Amino acid sequence: MLKGLFRKNQEKKESQFDFKDIDPMNVPKHVAIIMDGNGRWAQKKGLPRVAGHRAGVKTIKNIARAANQLNIQVLTLYAFSTENWKRPENEVKFLMELPQEFLIKEMDELMEQNIQVRVMGFVVELPEHTLKAVKEAEELTKNNTGLILNIAMNYGSRNELLHATNQMIQDILDGKLSQEAIDEKKISSYLLTSDFPDPELLIRTSGEQRISNFLLWQLAYSELWFTQVYWPDFSQTLFLKAIYDYQQRTRRFGGL
Ligand code: FPP
Repeated sequence: MLKGLFRKNQEKKESQFDFKDIDPMNVPKHVAIIMDGNGRWAQKKGLPRVAGHRAGVKTIKNIARAANQLNIQVLTLYAFSTENWKRPENEVKFLMELPQEFLIKEMDELMEQNIQVRVMGFVVELPEHTLKAVKEAEELTKNNTGLILNIAMNYGSRNELLHATNQMIQDILDGKLSQEAIDEKKISSYLLTSDFPDPELLIRTSGEQRISNFLLWQLAYSELWFTQVYWPDFSQTLFLKAIYDYQQRTRRFGGL
């Protein structure tokens, strides 16, 4: 019976997936997304690249709502990498304005949905207005108990690991940490994701199949899911399809 249902769902079109196709007992606790393809989406429509980023914000809203409805605990979104500073100045400026625009405009809904906003990355290097907006959003939503919307801004995984290594060495020198106490759990506790479980699922849109310096340590056993669809066109139903596909996989963690 279950097998039959699975086959039926395999034949289903992406647009037909629904919340009722998801097994509530096997929902990933943490989903990470590389939101890619904004520029190409805009280009295809003859629009400036930044129009793609603006459209991408709408997708964030839809996917956060769906993740919250599914009782996913953490949704980590790669919004700006440590490498993205190399983009044209006007694009960087635009990307730095979007979080504050989004957080101010959507604050009522975030509160209504009980969503907690977190920002992860080397945030002190963000422009003052961006930092102020994200810190305010963190403060306003800190007691919300629904989805944690974890926005990676000026985040780079190698940088995170370098920082964690230096911090551990410093703690050893200060007598706060002993070499014998360093195990995988301890290393995880020095990372920016220390409050969260590792993501069970990584989604990347736009057809690229790379990790791009995102959560290198944390993704060790994550299921990877890719789609050709550009981020602005990524829909709730496609997100449900990703979760559904995740639920059909057997996770072995290196065992049999
Ligand atoms: C990748 O597409 C996307 C980004 C580098 C930025 C993603 C940011 C947002 C969707 C908005 C962030 C806003 C908030 C509120 C957190 P790309 O530009 O690399 O696309 P391309 O590969 O087609 O050029």
